[in-house]
Amino acid sequence: MSLFVYFTAAAVCFYLLVYYNVFRGGRCSSPAKLEGKTVIVTGSNTGVGKATALQLAKRGARVVLACRSRERGEAAAFDIRRESGNHQVVFMQLDLSSLKSVGRFAETFLRTEPRLDILINNAGVMSSGRTQDGFGMAFGVNHLGHFLLTNLLLERLRRCSPSRVVTVSALLHRFGSVSFPALQSRKDVVDGESSWTSLQAYCSSKLCNVLFTRELANRLEGSGVTCYSLHPGVVHTELARNMSRWLQLLLRPVAKLLFLDPEGGSQTTLHCALQEGIEPLSGRYFSGCALQQVGARGRDDALAAKLWEVSERLAGLSQHAES
Ligand SMILES: NC(=O)c1ccc[n+]([C@@H]2O[C@H](COP(=O)([O-])OP(=O)(O)OC[C@H]3O[C@@H](n4cnc5c(N)ncnc54)[C@H](OP(=O)(O)O)[C@@H]3O)[C@@H](O)[C@H]2O)c1
Repeated sequence: MSLFVYFTAAAVCFYLLVYYNVFRGGRCSSPAKLEGKTVIVTGSNTGVGKATALQLAKRGARVVLACRSRERGEAAAFDIRRESGNHQVVFMQLDLSSLKSVGRFAETFLRTEPRLDILINNAGVMSSGRTQDGFGMAFGVNHLGHFLLTNLLLERLRRCSPSRVVTVSALLHRFGSVSFPALQSRKDVVDGESSWTSLQAYCSSKLCNVLFTRELANRLEGSGVTCYSLHPGVVHTELARNMSRWLQLLLRPVAKLLFLDPEGGSQTTLHCALQEGIEPLSGRYFSGCALQQVGARGRDDALAAKLWEVSERLAGLSQHAES
């Protein structure tokens, strides 16, 4: 009997240790209210993005849910309006796997909305396949789509400064790399097509998020627009929906026990979007609502500058500027 008690106590201690040290994040402590401010959250029909949008709506912001599916986006807008009591929550169609759709979204937004105070690049995929423009899915959606979107909205952010760009990266950026030859030859950051390379591509797209934020901060210095990248924690969401059914079955009980819920997973995004006084940390990376060091590749300024230059070309940014 006493052995059983010891075993149970040890298991509970182990669980608490792992939960508090590895999985649980901090909490956003900013009291900021957002009446009169406009926020865009990409991929906000579910998961971390939806939880983020709800918290921002509760603080009074006008929230634009930039989602690819009209049905899922409008259902989320309905839920958020009902739960927050804020009627300034609207859906606007954005498919980050199509550069044309990104251009259309930006055009509609700039025509119909007078302000943009916070842009939250949250949408993300962990899957193989190709975007409508032929890029690797993770690179195209997680990095290139957000790269174009941010650039097309920069002037409005500048005009509404102080304003912020928050990009949701991941701890897995540490395992990422950027292969410029692969980008040139096969429109992807990694070589080959397999489950392993799609995980690598996800990690690399998240490294691109970190590098993009770093270079964006350099370019925006003195403009009043600041930017941050972050790891939201390990969160129980739909992100693993494209993994094999077996892996999902194995993951589910662990996720239920240990992972953050989406509300917990939204805290570092909210911290980066709202916390007063972090402006001097523009370009840096956060986790658990605190500043964190990025992996070595994420601190490489030359790599960040080259990625920006290549992304400009791949996203056809000069054509957008001309049209
Ligand atoms: N969950 C974690 O443990 C974790 C850890 C580290 C980082 N992250 C990052 O956190 C962010 C949010 O992920 P999540 O965990 O909340 O995942 P999720 O539940 O799968 O939500 C992802 C969101 O992105 C949207 N999206 C996917 N492809 C899109 C496209 N082509 N255009 C527009 N929207 C698109 C999805 O829309 P649909 O519903 O229409 O597919 C969904 O709204 C991602 O950037 C992810 O990489 C998550």
